[in-house]
Amino acid sequence: MRHIIIFDTTLRDGEQSPGASLNLPEKIQIARQLAQLKVDVIEAGFPITSPGDFEAVQAIAQAVKGPTICALARSVEKDIDRAGEALAKARKPRIHVFCATSEIHRKFKLRKAKSEIVRIAVDSVRHAGKYTRDIEFSPEDASRTEPDFLAEVVEAVIDAGATTVNIPDTVGYAMPEQYAATIRSLRETVSNIGKAVISVHCHNDLGLGVANSLAAVMAGADQVECTINGLGERAGNASLEEIVMAIKTRRDYFQCDTGIATPKLFATSRMVSTLTGMQVQRNKAIVGENAFAHESGIHQDGMLKERRTYEIMLPEDVGVPRSSLVLGKHSGRHALRVRAEDLGFKLTDEQLIVAYDRFKILADKKKVVYDEDVQAILEDEFAQVEETYRLESVQISSGTHSIPTATVRLLNLKGESLQDASTGDGPVDALYKAIERLTGVKARLKDYRIRAVTVGKDAQGEVSVEVEVDGRSILARGVSTDIIQASALAYLKAINSSLSRGRKPVVKGSKARAASL
Ligand code: KIV
Ligand code: ZN
Repeated sequence: MRHIIIFDTTLRDGEQSPGASLNLPEKIQIARQLAQLKVDVIEAGFPITSPGDFEAVQAIAQAVKGPTICALARSVEKDIDRAGEALAKARKPRIHVFCATSEIHRKFKLRKAKSEIVRIAVDSVRHAGKYTRDIEFSPEDASRTEPDFLAEVVEAVIDAGATTVNIPDTVGYAMPEQYAATIRSLRETVSNIGKAVISVHCHNDLGLGVANSLAAVMAGADQVECTINGLGERAGNASLEEIVMAIKTRRDYFQCDTGIATPKLFATSRMVSTLTGMQVQRNKAIVGENAFAHESGIHQDGMLKERRTYEIMLPEDVGVPRSSLVLGKHSGRHALRVRAEDLGFKLTDEQLIVAYDRFKILADKKKVVYDEDVQAILEDEFAQVEETYRLESVQISSGTHSIPTATVRLLNLKGESLQDASTGDGPVDALYKAIERLTGVKARLKDYRIRAVTVGKDAQGEVSVEVEVDGRSILARGVSTDIIQASALAYLKAINSSLSRGRKPVVKGSKARAASL
């Protein structure tokens, strides 16, 4: 069977989702998980864009074995050199260079003639050849490029040494039939096309990212670029889990295969969702909470008689936990370690001790501890955000006839305990104002959501916030059996994340009282 190369760009295009930025340990954690998932290529970043991106590509190149590690570069020598340097330690390095080719980009963005674009593309591929033989070239906005010119560029870059030619639908404009025709036409008209792999990279602006990618596979594309949970610029990229499961479920139709370890899809999706703070919609195909839930009586009846009546995939094939009831207060450390591994967390002995302590406290409060609870503990405890401030305690007074007031105690990096209080329009407003007074960080709350992590009255509450600090959006989550505490944890995580990304804490005003512990 034809093998479809899965090129994951969660850490590059996915990380371009507004608010979804990741720090270095988080990127390494995701890259390791992608290697477990057995993706063929990890696009680890765009090294020229920031020292952080450079470091991430470098660290992933060193730490992650298995997949090819790829770095993005514009068709500019200094970008390519930076990508080459970042990949120096990679066992299988790939440089991905791109240059826009469509008329609209040539005319307004690049202000260059077609001949110049061809020269730039060819020179950049040759330059990348100084670092690796594995070179990918993308004519950006390929789907809006004149077909003849697209074929000319593709032929020229293959002659220059490109081993993969990627045909991006950069703005999600293509229609499946049309996009497939583009791939077919390249296969028919480009004389040296057999020397390179044809790749596709589809954005989801019209909701067609997956459909376009699959149409291209049918037309002969051998590599698909995609992201976990469909993260990416604007409406996102084609979703990896949907593409992989479509190919697996309809092998009869596609007559091809991927090497993805599909039982790891669910855990990978959860990990990416938590670390980026981008929630997965409940009815999302493959990894949404409702993807395997049957509500209607007729469906339930059919399922009980024969599950294939209403299920085209097995939940276990995508790693949806067989039973969401996993642990209780009598469960031991080993059970927690095994469950954590199923959920994508490999714990050291020290981490297991910490996690187990938290688990026991929770198990005492709740009768049953679900996978989602375990996941929440692990994510919270091992979240890689540097904690400039840690929540010590929060006290709220609120009611129909009183002014909501919050008193908050935080611990700073020096180990000092700081306390302040504030009133507000509601308890959460009061809480966030008190945190603002204590940290000196001015943050605008753009979104606040609350949901139960599992079922029942004793379920943990998960609060997701989007806050804007210095013009940048940050997403964060907090989980607790107390929703006020979850609200505080989420907000504080966002503040800590803004501080760990270079913003210095403002010296606190006289209202904040420092008391030694
Ligand atoms: O969407 C796009 O065109 C890209 C390229 C850099 C491949 O992300
Ligand atoms: Zn893209």
